[in-house]
Amino acid sequence: MSFKLSIPLVLSLLASFSAVSAQQCNATSLCPSSAPCCSEFGFCGTGDFCLGGCNPLASNTLTSCMPEPVCQNANLTFSDTSRILSNATYFDGNATKYDWVVNSGTIINSTSGELAMILTEDNGGTRLSSTRYVHYGQITARLKTGRWGGVVTAFITMSDIKDEIDWEFPGDQTTEGQSNFFWQGVVPQKTVGETHGNLSDTFSNYHDYTIDWQQDTLTWLIDGQTVRTLKRSDVTGDDGVSRYPSTPSRVQLSIWPAGINSSGQGTIDWAGGLINWDDPDYKAAGHFYALVESVSVTCADSKSNPSDAQSYVYGKNASAFSPQVTVTNETTVNNGAGSLRALAGANVWTAIGASAVMALGALLV
Ligand SMILES: *[C@@H]1O[C@H](CO)[C@@H](O)[C@H](O)[C@H]1NC(C)=O
Ligand SMILES: *[C@@H]1O[C@H](CO)[C@@H](O)[C@H](O)[C@H]1NC(C)=O
Ligand SMILES: *[C@@H]1O[C@H](CO)[C@@H](O)[C@H](O)[C@H]1NC(C)=O
Ligand SMILES: *[C@@H]1O[C@H](CO)[C@@H](O)[C@H](O)[C@H]1NC(C)=O
Ligand SMILES: *[C@@H]1O[C@H](CO)[C@@H](O)[C@H](O)[C@H]1NC(C)=O
Ligand SMILES: *[C@@H]1O[C@H](CO)[C@@H](O)[C@H](O)[C@H]1NC(C)=O
Ligand SMILES: *[C@@H]1O[C@H](CO)[C@@H](O)[C@H](O)[C@H]1NC(C)=O
Ligand SMILES: *[C@@H]1O[C@H](CO)[C@@H](O)[C@H](O)[C@H]1NC(C)=O
Ligand SMILES: *[C@@H]1O[C@H](CO)[C@@H](O)[C@H](O)[C@H]1NC(C)=O
Repeated sequence: MSFKLSIPLVLSLLASFSAVSAQQCNATSLCPSSAPCCSEFGFCGTGDFCLGGCNPLASNTLTSCMPEPVCQNANLTFSDTSRILSNATYFDGNATKYDWVVNSGTIINSTSGELAMILTEDNGGTRLSSTRYVHYGQITARLKTGRWGGVVTAFITMSDIKDEIDWEFPGDQTTEGQSNFFWQGVVPQKTVGETHGNLSDTFSNYHDYTIDWQQDTLTWLIDGQTVRTLKRSDVTGDDGVSRYPSTPSRVQLSIWPAGINSSGQGTIDWAGGLINWDDPDYKAAGHFYALVESVSVTCADSKSNPSDAQSYVYGKNASAFSPQVTVTNETTVNNGAGSLRALAGANVWTAIGASAVMALGALLV
């Protein structure tokens, strides 16, 4: 299971700030040309609204969002934080400069070269997104999860039209992981999340969690062993529509508070109850945390792409409900992103505190 905040909650979070003028957007209500880009949270704007998470199908035109940085084979490690931009608001789309952006929350340098993502009662959790997209490929994260009821560690892929593939770890279960996937924001009818386990303690031990996402088969693996396989044909309906994740996706890493009062009861139960902020671990460290040692990416298209490939761009639907995706040499860098941010819409995000932003971020986890 993966959980989304309700739209009413999102609206109430926004409404609690004055001078909110951002227009909402979705696939049937596109953004105006004055604020052409539909952000990952469904609001129109310019500048960083046009970067990671910008939904082409809800933006003013199919080309309003910046092209998405193309996949590149890599083994991303965290011996220092120089490849991580600590505040995604300042990202300009240059994926050569940074491997990751921090969308919300806080990271700290650990002593042994891991990425530490932290959750406090105030920060609402931490989420990072890769700057590059994967359009099919094998992604492995070597990580240690949290071990506290209500605290969820996640490693997922997420496309700009909300195709999503998950590994999630509710903190009260440290011998298992959960696999799940979504197609354009919905759970395809025949599928549900699954639990895979009997692992040595996932808090104390690193395990390799793999999402092997190919055109026709999606495989989840733990420590190199297949634990679940889904075929595209398993989720192709009688109507011929393939409800299989098929659009370029960012890799996202997070620790988030599912066990809080504003979550639905189902979410709280799934996550292992309300978070105990008096937990001795929390008292001792001042935060909850999850650790990531490396994320390796093997792109399915790296050999077939032209040598000057820079980006993915959405086109008209190739078949019903399946946007065409083209590899291009168009730049992904949004020149002057910072200066445009002052326009209507962008204000909303600078006005909202980090914890509200993370709560909104939970939409995507
Ligand atoms: C799309 O957005 C419009 C305007 O905000 C809203 O009226 C409509 O209900 C939304 N549609 C969906 C499917 O969310
Ligand atoms: C990635 O790098 C780490 C650290 O050097 C190494 O332990 C790991 O095996 C590498 N992963 C892959 C898939 O090569
Ligand atoms: C983490 O380490 C990097 C260099 O490895 C340094 O530039 C950065 O300031 C450190 N961050 C913190 C929060 O200590
Ligand atoms: C992107 O960043 C790299 C590395 O910092 C730099 O060499 C390059 O000029 C930048 N590209 C653009 C278009 O700004
Ligand atoms: C879990 O692993 C242990 C040790 O390998 C094994 O003895 C046990 O039968 C396994 N349990 C399940 C439910 O697979
Ligand atoms: C959360 O809900 C519990 C149980 O209803 C209540 O005791 C607690 O005061 C609530 N906390 C907050 C911050 O609202
Ligand atoms: C194209 O695909 C998108 C995404 O599934 C969908 O919202 C839209 O209705 C489709 N348009 C047509 C003409 O099929
Ligand atoms: C992209 O490719 C086209 C055709 O090959 C070429 O004319 C154009 O200059 C290239 N643009 C960039 C930004 O490299
Ligand atoms: C990122 O920068 C914006 C603009 O300065 C600021 O409002 C926001 O709080 C920052 N976010 C984080 C997580 O520090």
